[in-house]
Amino acid sequence: MNKRRAFLRTASLAALSAPFLSFDTQKTWSLNPLQQLYKDPDDYWKMIRKQFPLKEGQTYFNNGTMGPTPGYVLETMMHHMMHYNKEAATIDYKDGSGPELLSGYFPYEELRSKLATLINCDFKEISLTQNATFGMNFVGMGLDLKAGDELLNTNQEHGGGFGAWQLLAKRKDCIYKQAIMPEPANDPQEIYDTIFKEVTARTRVIAIPHIVSVYGTVMPVKAICTEARRRGIFTVLDGAQCVGQIDVDVKDIGCDAYYSSLHKWLLSPPGSGLLYINKDKVGSIWSTLASYNWDNQEDHGFRLMQYGTGNPALIAGYDASVDFFNTIGKERWLGRINELGTYLRAGLKDMSHVTIASSTNENMAAGITTYSVNGLTGPELQKTLWDKERLQPRSVGKELLRHSVHIYNSKEEIDKALKVIRGLKQ
Ligand SMILES: Cc1ncc(COP(=O)(O)O)c(C=O)c1O
Repeated sequence: MNKRRAFLRTASLAALSAPFLSFDTQKTWSLNPLQQLYKDPDDYWKMIRKQFPLKEGQTYFNNGTMGPTPGYVLETMMHHMMHYNKEAATIDYKDGSGPELLSGYFPYEELRSKLATLINCDFKEISLTQNATFGMNFVGMGLDLKAGDELLNTNQEHGGGFGAWQLLAKRKDCIYKQAIMPEPANDPQEIYDTIFKEVTARTRVIAIPHIVSVYGTVMPVKAICTEARRRGIFTVLDGAQCVGQIDVDVKDIGCDAYYSSLHKWLLSPPGSGLLYINKDKVGSIWSTLASYNWDNQEDHGFRLMQYGTGNPALIAGYDASVDFFNTIGKERWLGRINELGTYLRAGLKDMSHVTIASSTNENMAAGITTYSVNGLTGPELQKTLWDKERLQPRSVGKELLRHSVHIYNSKEEIDKALKVIRGLKQ
Protein backbone atom coordinates (compact mmCIF):
# COMPACT_ATOMS: atom_id res chain seq x y z
CA MET A 1 0.00 0.00 0.00
CA ASN A 2 2.75 2.41 1.02
CA LYS A 3 4.75 1.46 -2.05
CA ARG A 4 1.74 2.11 -4.23
CA ARG A 5 1.16 5.48 -2.59
CA ALA A 6 4.78 6.46 -3.06
CA PHE A 7 4.61 5.43 -6.72
CA LEU A 8 1.45 7.42 -7.29
CA ARG A 9 3.02 10.45 -5.63
CA THR A 10 6.16 10.24 -7.76
CA ALA A 11 4.12 9.66 -10.90
CA SER A 12 1.86 12.60 -10.26
CA LEU A 13 4.79 14.86 -9.41
CA ALA A 14 6.46 13.83 -12.65
CA ALA A 15 3.29 14.49 -14.58
CA LEU A 16 3.06 17.91 -12.98
CA SER A 17 6.66 18.93 -13.29
CA ALA A 18 7.28 17.90 -16.90
CA PRO A 19 5.00 20.42 -18.58
CA PHE A 20 5.81 23.10 -16.01
CA LEU A 21 9.56 22.80 -16.60
CA SER A 22 9.25 23.13 -20.34
CA PHE A 23 6.51 25.69 -20.06
CA ASP A 24 8.54 28.79 -19.52
CA THR A 25 11.03 28.17 -22.28
CA GLN A 26 9.07 26.88 -25.20
CA LYS A 27 5.71 27.76 -26.64
CA THR A 28 3.82 25.29 -28.77
CA TRP A 29 1.29 27.59 -30.38
CA SER A 30 1.71 30.78 -32.39
CA LEU A 31 -0.14 33.03 -34.79
CA ASN A 32 2.29 32.21 -37.63
CA PRO A 33 0.28 29.36 -39.22
CA LEU A 34 -2.72 31.69 -39.46
CA GLN A 35 -0.79 34.00 -41.73
CA GLN A 36 -0.44 31.21 -44.28
CA LEU A 37 -1.60 32.12 -47.78
CA TYR A 38 -5.22 31.20 -48.40
CA LYS A 39 -4.69 29.12 -51.55
CA ASP A 40 -6.74 26.04 -50.87
CA PRO A 41 -9.71 26.65 -48.53
CA ASP A 42 -9.81 22.98 -47.46
CA ASP A 43 -6.18 22.98 -46.39
CA TYR A 44 -6.60 26.34 -44.72
CA TRP A 45 -9.55 25.25 -42.57
CA LYS A 46 -7.89 21.94 -41.72
CA MET A 47 -4.92 23.94 -40.46
CA ILE A 48 -7.29 26.17 -38.44
CA ARG A 49 -8.82 23.07 -36.80
CA LYS A 50 -5.34 22.12 -35.60
CA GLN A 51 -5.09 25.42 -33.71
CA PHE A 52 -7.50 24.03 -31.10
CA PRO A 53 -6.68 21.40 -28.50
CA LEU A 54 -10.02 19.71 -29.29
CA LYS A 55 -9.68 15.92 -29.60
CA GLU A 56 -9.58 14.27 -33.01
CA GLY A 57 -12.57 12.00 -33.71
CA GLN A 58 -14.97 14.15 -31.68
CA THR A 59 -16.96 17.12 -32.93
CA TYR A 60 -17.99 20.10 -30.87
CA PHE A 61 -21.21 21.69 -32.17
CA ASN A 62 -22.12 23.67 -29.03
CA ASN A 63 -20.46 27.02 -29.59
CA GLY A 64 -23.71 28.79 -28.65
CA THR A 65 -23.00 27.75 -25.07
CA MET A 66 -19.25 28.21 -25.02
CA GLY A 67 -16.51 28.71 -27.59
CA PRO A 68 -13.48 26.41 -27.26
CA THR A 69 -10.33 28.43 -26.60
CA PRO A 70 -7.59 28.23 -29.27
CA GLY A 71 -4.24 26.78 -28.14
CA TYR A 72 -2.49 30.11 -28.74
CA VAL A 73 -4.88 31.91 -26.40
CA LEU A 74 -4.76 29.21 -23.72
CA GLU A 75 -0.99 29.11 -23.79
CA THR A 76 -0.76 32.91 -23.56
CA MET A 77 -2.86 32.78 -20.40
CA MET A 78 -1.07 29.86 -18.80
CA HIS A 79 2.30 31.31 -19.65
CA HIS A 80 1.29 34.62 -18.12
CA MET A 81 0.23 32.98 -14.87
CA MET A 82 3.37 30.91 -14.57
CA HIS A 83 5.76 33.63 -15.64
CA TYR A 84 4.46 36.33 -13.32
CA ASN A 85 4.19 33.99 -10.40
CA LYS A 86 7.87 33.19 -10.83
CA GLU A 87 8.80 36.81 -11.43
CA ALA A 88 6.49 38.40 -8.85
CA ALA A 89 9.35 39.75 -6.75
CA THR A 90 10.91 41.55 -9.71
CA ILE A 91 7.79 43.59 -10.36
CA ASP A 92 7.68 47.21 -9.24
CA TYR A 93 3.96 47.87 -9.02
CA LYS A 94 4.36 51.62 -9.37
CA ASP A 95 6.57 51.60 -12.49
CA GLY A 96 3.66 50.58 -14.69
CA SER A 97 3.98 46.80 -14.44
CA GLY A 98 1.16 46.48 -11.89
CA PRO A 99 -1.21 45.03 -14.50
CA GLU A 100 1.05 41.97 -14.68
CA LEU A 101 0.23 41.17 -11.04
CA LEU A 102 -3.50 41.82 -10.99
CA SER A 103 -6.27 43.16 -13.15
CA GLY A 104 -9.14 45.39 -12.07
CA TYR A 105 -7.43 48.74 -11.49
CA PHE A 106 -6.27 49.70 -14.97
CA PRO A 107 -8.01 51.13 -18.03
CA TYR A 108 -6.62 48.58 -20.56
CA GLU A 109 -6.74 51.12 -23.33
CA GLU A 110 -4.97 48.88 -25.83
CA LEU A 111 -7.39 45.97 -25.51
CA ARG A 112 -10.40 48.30 -25.41
CA SER A 113 -9.10 50.00 -28.58
CA LYS A 114 -8.89 46.63 -30.37
CA LEU A 115 -12.45 45.88 -29.30
CA ALA A 116 -13.57 49.36 -30.31
CA THR A 117 -12.23 48.72 -33.81
CA LEU A 118 -14.07 45.41 -33.87
CA ILE A 119 -17.50 46.92 -33.14
CA ASN A 120 -16.84 50.44 -34.50
CA CYS A 121 -16.81 52.87 -31.60
CA ASP A 122 -14.43 54.86 -29.43
CA PHE A 123 -12.49 52.85 -26.84
CA LYS A 124 -13.86 55.08 -24.08
CA GLU A 125 -17.34 53.82 -24.95
CA ILE A 126 -16.23 50.28 -24.05
CA SER A 127 -15.97 48.61 -20.65
CA LEU A 128 -14.41 45.20 -20.16
CA THR A 129 -16.80 42.99 -18.21
CA GLN A 130 -16.88 39.35 -17.21
CA ASN A 131 -19.72 38.56 -19.58
CA ALA A 132 -23.02 39.64 -21.11
CA THR A 133 -24.91 39.30 -17.83
CA PHE A 134 -22.68 41.97 -16.27
CA GLY A 135 -23.39 44.22 -19.25
CA MET A 136 -27.16 43.92 -18.89
CA ASN A 137 -26.95 44.63 -15.16
CA PHE A 138 -24.56 47.57 -15.45
CA VAL A 139 -26.96 49.26 -17.88
CA GLY A 140 -30.18 48.37 -16.05
CA MET A 141 -28.95 49.22 -12.55
CA GLY A 142 -27.35 52.39 -13.88
CA LEU A 143 -30.49 53.88 -15.43
CA ASP A 144 -32.58 56.28 -13.36
CA LEU A 145 -35.90 54.45 -13.69
CA LYS A 146 -39.12 55.60 -12.08
CA ALA A 147 -42.35 53.87 -11.06
CA GLY A 148 -44.56 53.41 -14.12
CA ASP A 149 -41.70 53.35 -16.65
CA GLU A 150 -42.23 50.51 -19.11
CA LEU A 151 -39.40 48.08 -19.84
CA LEU A 152 -39.80 45.98 -22.97
CA ASN A 153 -38.18 42.58 -23.66
CA THR A 154 -39.18 39.86 -26.11
CA ASN A 155 -40.42 36.46 -24.93
CA GLN A 156 -37.18 34.92 -26.32
CA GLU A 157 -34.62 36.31 -23.89
CA HIS A 158 -31.89 34.39 -22.13
CA GLY A 159 -31.75 35.01 -18.34
CA GLY A 160 -28.84 37.32 -19.18
CA GLY A 161 -31.31 39.35 -21.25
CA PHE A 162 -34.32 39.55 -18.90
CA GLY A 163 -33.11 39.19 -15.28
CA ALA A 164 -32.17 42.81 -14.63
CA TRP A 165 -35.39 44.18 -16.17
CA GLN A 166 -37.63 41.92 -14.12
CA LEU A 167 -35.70 42.77 -10.95
CA LEU A 168 -35.95 46.49 -11.67
CA ALA A 169 -39.67 46.23 -12.37
CA LYS A 170 -40.15 44.66 -8.94
CA ARG A 171 -37.79 46.98 -7.09
CA LYS A 172 -38.81 50.26 -8.71
CA ASP A 173 -42.42 49.58 -9.63
CA CYS A 174 -41.70 49.73 -13.35
CA ILE A 175 -43.93 47.84 -15.77
CA TYR A 176 -42.29 44.81 -17.36
CA LYS A 177 -43.54 43.73 -20.80
CA GLN A 178 -42.65 41.12 -23.39
CA ALA A 179 -43.28 41.26 -27.14
CA ILE A 180 -44.25 37.80 -28.41
CA MET A 181 -41.93 36.83 -31.23
CA PRO A 182 -43.10 34.96 -34.33
CA GLU A 183 -41.99 31.31 -34.52
CA PRO A 184 -40.22 30.71 -36.78
CA ALA A 185 -39.19 34.30 -37.48
CA ASN A 186 -38.61 34.78 -41.18
CA ASP A 187 -39.81 38.32 -41.78
CA PRO A 188 -37.95 41.29 -40.25
CA GLN A 189 -41.02 43.51 -40.63
CA GLU A 190 -43.10 41.07 -38.57
CA ILE A 191 -40.56 41.29 -35.73
CA TYR A 192 -40.47 45.07 -35.95
CA ASP A 193 -44.27 45.26 -35.79
CA THR A 194 -44.35 42.81 -32.86
CA ILE A 195 -42.02 45.06 -30.88
CA PHE A 196 -43.72 48.35 -31.64
CA LYS A 197 -47.17 46.93 -30.94
CA GLU A 198 -46.08 46.88 -27.26
CA VAL A 199 -44.56 50.36 -27.23
CA THR A 200 -46.49 53.15 -25.50
CA ALA A 201 -45.76 56.73 -24.49
CA ARG A 202 -44.38 55.33 -21.21
CA THR A 203 -41.89 52.91 -22.77
CA ARG A 204 -38.52 53.85 -21.36
CA VAL A 205 -36.31 50.90 -22.42
CA ILE A 206 -36.33 48.41 -25.27
CA ALA A 207 -33.97 45.56 -24.34
CA ILE A 208 -33.85 42.83 -26.98
CA PRO A 209 -31.36 40.28 -28.30
CA HIS A 210 -29.35 40.96 -31.44
CA ILE A 211 -29.25 37.19 -31.92
CA VAL A 212 -31.82 35.04 -30.13
CA SER A 213 -30.14 32.46 -27.91
CA VAL A 214 -32.38 29.46 -28.65
CA TYR A 215 -33.05 29.97 -32.36
CA GLY A 216 -30.09 32.02 -33.58
CA THR A 217 -32.42 34.58 -35.22
CA VAL A 218 -30.54 37.68 -36.33
CA MET A 219 -32.95 40.47 -35.35
CA PRO A 220 -33.66 43.62 -37.43
CA VAL A 221 -32.04 45.74 -34.72
CA LYS A 222 -31.07 48.72 -36.87
CA ALA A 223 -34.67 49.47 -37.87
CA ILE A 224 -35.87 48.96 -34.29
CA CYS A 225 -33.17 51.19 -32.76
CA THR A 226 -33.75 53.93 -35.35
CA GLU A 227 -37.45 54.09 -34.55
CA ALA A 228 -36.82 53.84 -30.79
CA ARG A 229 -34.39 56.76 -30.96
CA ARG A 230 -36.95 58.82 -32.85
CA ARG A 231 -39.37 58.15 -29.98
CA GLY A 232 -36.76 58.89 -27.28
CA ILE A 233 -36.61 55.28 -26.00
CA PHE A 234 -33.33 53.88 -24.63
CA THR A 235 -32.19 50.75 -26.51
CA VAL A 236 -30.05 47.96 -25.04
CA LEU A 237 -29.01 45.07 -27.26
CA ASP A 238 -28.05 41.68 -25.88
CA GLY A 239 -25.26 40.69 -28.24
CA ALA A 240 -23.99 37.73 -26.19
CA GLN A 241 -24.15 35.50 -29.28
CA CYS A 242 -22.99 38.12 -31.78
CA VAL A 243 -19.41 39.41 -31.66
CA GLY A 244 -17.48 36.81 -33.66
CA GLN A 245 -20.59 35.26 -35.21
CA ILE A 246 -21.84 38.20 -37.30
CA ASP A 247 -20.56 41.68 -38.12
CA VAL A 248 -21.39 44.08 -35.29
CA ASP A 249 -21.24 47.82 -35.98
CA VAL A 250 -22.80 49.63 -33.05
CA LYS A 251 -22.74 53.04 -34.76
CA ASP A 252 -24.50 51.71 -37.82
CA ILE A 253 -27.09 49.94 -35.64
CA GLY A 254 -27.61 53.11 -33.61
CA CYS A 255 -28.27 51.38 -30.25
CA ASP A 256 -27.65 53.19 -26.97
CA ALA A 257 -26.02 50.20 -25.28
CA TYR A 258 -24.71 46.83 -26.45
CA TYR A 259 -23.17 43.95 -24.54
CA SER A 260 -21.57 40.67 -25.53
CA SER A 261 -19.79 37.56 -24.23
CA LEU A 262 -16.71 37.08 -26.35
CA HIS A 263 -16.04 33.65 -24.83
CA LYS A 264 -18.72 32.44 -27.19
CA TRP A 265 -18.14 33.31 -30.86
CA LEU A 266 -14.87 35.24 -30.61
CA LEU A 267 -13.40 32.18 -28.83
CA SER A 268 -11.99 34.30 -26.00
CA PRO A 269 -11.28 32.68 -22.63
CA PRO A 270 -14.30 32.22 -20.31
CA GLY A 271 -14.99 35.52 -18.56
CA SER A 272 -14.34 37.88 -21.50
CA GLY A 273 -17.22 40.31 -21.98
CA LEU A 274 -17.71 43.81 -23.29
CA LEU A 275 -20.19 46.59 -22.71
CA TYR A 276 -20.65 49.51 -25.10
CA ILE A 277 -22.60 52.62 -24.12
CA ASN A 278 -22.97 55.50 -26.54
CA LYS A 279 -20.94 58.52 -25.38
CA ASP A 280 -23.99 60.80 -25.59
CA LYS A 281 -25.91 58.58 -23.17
CA VAL A 282 -23.30 57.17 -20.80
CA GLY A 283 -23.12 60.31 -18.64
CA SER A 284 -26.56 59.51 -17.23
CA ILE A 285 -25.74 55.88 -16.37
CA TRP A 286 -24.74 55.37 -12.71
CA SER A 287 -21.77 53.16 -11.87
CA THR A 288 -22.95 49.89 -10.30
CA LEU A 289 -19.59 48.82 -8.92
CA ALA A 290 -17.57 51.59 -7.32
CA SER A 291 -13.87 51.85 -6.57
CA TYR A 292 -11.25 54.58 -7.20
CA ASN A 293 -12.58 55.60 -10.63
CA TRP A 294 -16.31 55.37 -9.94
CA ASP A 295 -16.78 59.05 -10.88
CA ASN A 296 -14.26 59.30 -13.73
CA GLN A 297 -15.94 61.71 -16.16
CA GLU A 298 -13.10 61.53 -18.71
CA ASP A 299 -13.32 57.81 -19.40
CA HIS A 300 -16.81 56.49 -18.73
CA GLY A 301 -15.95 53.01 -20.03
CA PHE A 302 -13.28 52.76 -17.31
CA ARG A 303 -15.70 54.21 -14.73
CA LEU A 304 -18.02 51.28 -15.40
CA MET A 305 -15.36 48.60 -14.87
CA GLN A 306 -14.45 49.22 -11.22
CA TYR A 307 -14.54 45.59 -10.16
CA GLY A 308 -11.41 45.30 -8.01
CA THR A 309 -8.82 42.55 -8.29
CA GLY A 310 -9.11 39.99 -11.05
CA ASN A 311 -6.81 37.59 -12.89
CA PRO A 312 -4.40 39.44 -15.22
CA ALA A 313 -3.78 36.26 -17.23
CA LEU A 314 -7.38 36.45 -18.35
CA ILE A 315 -6.78 39.90 -19.80
CA ALA A 316 -3.68 38.55 -21.58
CA GLY A 317 -5.80 35.71 -23.00
CA TYR A 318 -8.64 38.06 -23.94
CA ASP A 319 -6.17 40.26 -25.81
CA ALA A 320 -4.60 37.23 -27.53
CA SER A 321 -8.03 36.04 -28.68
CA VAL A 322 -8.67 39.35 -30.45
CA ASP A 323 -5.28 38.96 -32.17
CA PHE A 324 -6.24 35.41 -33.15
CA PHE A 325 -9.46 36.70 -34.70
CA ASN A 326 -7.76 39.62 -36.46
CA THR A 327 -5.02 37.40 -37.87
CA ILE A 328 -7.56 35.15 -39.56
CA GLY A 329 -9.51 38.27 -40.54
CA LYS A 330 -13.09 39.28 -39.96
CA GLU A 331 -14.38 38.52 -43.44
CA ARG A 332 -12.83 35.07 -43.67
CA TRP A 333 -13.94 34.14 -40.13
CA LEU A 334 -17.53 35.38 -40.39
CA GLY A 335 -17.80 34.12 -43.97
CA ARG A 336 -16.83 30.62 -42.90
CA ILE A 337 -19.40 30.53 -40.10
CA ASN A 338 -22.07 31.63 -42.52
CA GLU A 339 -20.97 29.13 -45.16
CA LEU A 340 -21.15 26.24 -42.68
CA GLY A 341 -24.49 27.41 -41.24
CA THR A 342 -26.00 27.64 -44.71
CA TYR A 343 -24.58 24.22 -45.59
CA LEU A 344 -26.19 22.63 -42.52
CA ARG A 345 -29.57 24.29 -43.15
CA ALA A 346 -29.53 23.28 -46.82
CA GLY A 347 -29.02 19.64 -45.80
CA LEU A 348 -31.78 19.76 -43.18
CA LYS A 349 -34.28 21.51 -45.47
CA ASP A 350 -34.35 18.44 -47.70
CA MET A 351 -35.55 16.11 -44.94
CA SER A 352 -39.29 15.77 -44.45
CA HIS A 353 -38.91 14.40 -40.89
CA VAL A 354 -36.97 17.51 -39.77
CA THR A 355 -38.59 20.79 -38.70
CA ILE A 356 -36.31 23.80 -38.66
CA ALA A 357 -37.32 26.14 -35.82
CA SER A 358 -34.68 28.73 -36.69
CA SER A 359 -35.12 31.29 -39.42
CA THR A 360 -34.85 29.85 -42.91
CA ASN A 361 -34.44 33.37 -44.27
CA GLU A 362 -30.67 33.24 -44.76
CA ASN A 363 -30.42 36.99 -44.05
CA MET A 364 -31.65 36.28 -40.52
CA ALA A 365 -29.48 33.25 -39.73
CA ALA A 366 -25.77 32.54 -39.27
CA GLY A 367 -23.99 29.88 -37.18
CA ILE A 368 -26.89 28.59 -35.08
CA THR A 369 -29.58 26.25 -36.43
CA THR A 370 -32.24 24.82 -34.15
CA TYR A 371 -34.45 21.96 -35.27
CA SER A 372 -36.44 18.94 -34.22
CA VAL A 373 -36.68 15.43 -35.67
CA ASN A 374 -40.01 13.57 -35.71
CA GLY A 375 -40.27 10.91 -33.03
CA LEU A 376 -37.29 12.02 -30.92
CA THR A 377 -36.95 14.43 -28.03
CA GLY A 378 -34.07 16.91 -28.10
CA PRO A 379 -32.04 15.00 -25.47
CA GLU A 380 -32.61 11.72 -27.40
CA LEU A 381 -31.40 13.32 -30.61
CA GLN A 382 -28.34 14.76 -28.87
CA LYS A 383 -27.52 11.34 -27.41
CA THR A 384 -27.99 9.60 -30.76
CA LEU A 385 -25.55 11.95 -32.49
CA TRP A 386 -22.99 11.40 -29.77
CA ASP A 387 -23.41 7.63 -29.60
CA LYS A 388 -23.23 7.13 -33.37
CA GLU A 389 -20.61 9.65 -34.46
CA ARG A 390 -19.26 11.48 -31.39
CA LEU A 391 -21.00 14.73 -32.41
CA GLN A 392 -21.96 17.16 -29.64
CA PRO A 393 -24.65 19.78 -30.36
CA ARG A 394 -26.94 20.78 -27.48
CA SER A 395 -30.58 20.02 -26.84
CA VAL A 396 -32.70 22.98 -25.74
CA GLY A 397 -36.09 22.52 -24.09
CA LYS A 398 -37.84 19.19 -24.70
CA GLU A 399 -38.04 19.04 -28.46
CA LEU A 400 -35.20 21.01 -29.96
CA LEU A 401 -31.57 20.60 -30.82
CA ARG A 402 -29.39 23.72 -31.14
CA HIS A 403 -26.62 23.03 -33.59
CA SER A 404 -23.81 25.60 -33.74
CA VAL A 405 -21.07 25.64 -36.37
CA HIS A 406 -17.81 27.56 -36.19
CA ILE A 407 -14.46 27.88 -37.96
CA TYR A 408 -13.05 24.77 -36.23
CA ASN A 409 -15.86 22.68 -37.78
CA SER A 410 -15.85 21.19 -41.29
CA LYS A 411 -18.36 20.22 -43.94
CA GLU A 412 -17.35 16.57 -43.36
CA GLU A 413 -18.48 16.86 -39.75
CA ILE A 414 -21.78 18.41 -40.84
CA ASP A 415 -22.18 15.60 -43.39
CA LYS A 416 -21.78 13.06 -40.59
CA ALA A 417 -24.57 14.77 -38.63
CA LEU A 418 -26.82 14.92 -41.71
CA LYS A 419 -26.22 11.23 -42.38
CA VAL A 420 -27.22 10.23 -38.85
CA ILE A 421 -30.32 12.45 -39.01
CA ARG A 422 -31.30 11.13 -42.45
CA GLY A 423 -31.16 7.61 -40.98
CA LEU A 424 -33.70 8.58 -38.29
CA LYS A 425 -36.60 8.81 -40.74
CA GLN A 426 -39.31 6.43 -39.54
C1 LIG B 1 -28.63 35.82 -25.85
C2 LIG B 1 -27.85 35.55 -24.58
N1 LIG B 1 -27.80 36.50 -23.64
C3 LIG B 1 -27.09 36.35 -22.51
C4 LIG B 1 -26.39 35.18 -22.28
C5 LIG B 1 -25.61 35.06 -21.01
O1 LIG B 1 -24.24 35.01 -21.29
P1 LIG B 1 -23.17 35.02 -20.13
O2 LIG B 1 -23.45 33.85 -19.25
O3 LIG B 1 -21.86 34.89 -20.81
O4 LIG B 1 -23.33 36.30 -19.39
C6 LIG B 1 -26.43 34.14 -23.20
C7 LIG B 1 -25.75 32.87 -22.96
O5 LIG B 1 -25.93 31.89 -23.63
C8 LIG B 1 -27.18 34.34 -24.41
O6 LIG B 1 -27.26 33.39 -25.34
